Amino acid sequence: MALGNKEAPTSEYNRIAMDTAQKFHAIRKAGVEKNRGAERPREKLFPAFDRAGLGIVLEYERMGNRPVSEALERAFETLGYSLEHLGLTIGTIVRGIDLRAIGTDEAELLRKLLLERKVIFFHDQHLEEDEQVTLARHFGELDAFPFGGSGQNPYVLEIRHGRHSPGIENGWHTDVTWMERPSLGSIAQCIQAPPFGGDTLFSDSHACYLGLTTELRDAIEHLEGIHDYRNFLTQRAPGSLPEDLLKQIQEEIPFGVSHPLVRTHPETGQRGLYIHGGFLRHESLTDRRSGETLDAKQSRNLVRELLQQHARPEYTCRFRWGVGSIAFWDNRAAQHYAVSDYFPHQRVLRRVTVSGDRPFLRPIEAE
Ligand SMILES: [Fe+2]
Repeated sequence: MALGNKEAPTSEYNRIAMDTAQKFHAIRKAGVEKNRGAERPREKLFPAFDRAGLGIVLEYERMGNRPVSEALERAFETLGYSLEHLGLTIGTIVRGIDLRAIGTDEAELLRKLLLERKVIFFHDQHLEEDEQVTLARHFGELDAFPFGGSGQNPYVLEIRHGRHSPGIENGWHTDVTWMERPSLGSIAQCIQAPPFGGDTLFSDSHACYLGLTTELRDAIEHLEGIHDYRNFLTQRAPGSLPEDLLKQIQEEIPFGVSHPLVRTHPETGQRGLYIHGGFLRHESLTDRRSGETLDAKQSRNLVRELLQQHARPEYTCRFRWGVGSIAFWDNRAAQHYAVSDYFPHQRVLRRVTVSGDRPFLRPIEAE
């Protein structure tokens, strides 16, 4: 039978479908007429069993229903820089800026933009190691990284993957949660990009928190978990670290630190989900009021459920690296995931981290 043949007979299924559609349409139209002008609560617009879309709406409303505040947008415009937003609530590319040449005023604007957008991006910067460190120093003290290959500058961590070491950062996480005072943010520059793939995804931890059901938010309100770097040491250098060095590291660098599952952003005051699937001991969740540790199975199930939250595409934006691209993310407001889809090609990033403070949760009554 030729397509578009007007003489073709209507099948029994299609006759029923068209008839049903007419009835549906009439009922829907009557409902729209009846409720015209009435604003439905946001919660009612989304199904109770799936709040991913709602989390984004609530976060966007908190942001003033704008991707970025008007004053900040105008300030960037005045300096001749343009902003390209990747997601509704997260991720913005800044164009027209030379990061080698920024002064205190530009750095302050970028800091404000980071707080509003959680991760900001730049292309074609091509900074030398020391220049990248100088850039990072605009935003605070820096943290050296004890467990990786550093560059010439001790504050630089080189993240290199290729034929002999495939990308392993493909789990949702926020950096260095094993630290008592995990880094505020990370500034990574792409030194070598694979011909395709190797993107990094970023997920909005504030929206993730808002998108949890009320029951789940209540369940994790007072919980904290222990983060440690033991797995990390053995993964990176299996069997190659002498016992006495391991012992020394554990004595000198705090081992097994406790952080809340929900943290208050120290600058914006917003709550966000705070979790790292690799460093958090999944069975370690404890109620900080009573000091009681959850049943191990219950703890693991809860961690698994929370880890899935950041993976919902609604909360994310995706960044494509080119050589000289830079991403600056706020570890207190976003999680990230480096897609490991470029083997056997090389991907090299150079990362510098800005010092942060100890995660805490401000009680609701104090907000
Ligand atoms: Fe990371």
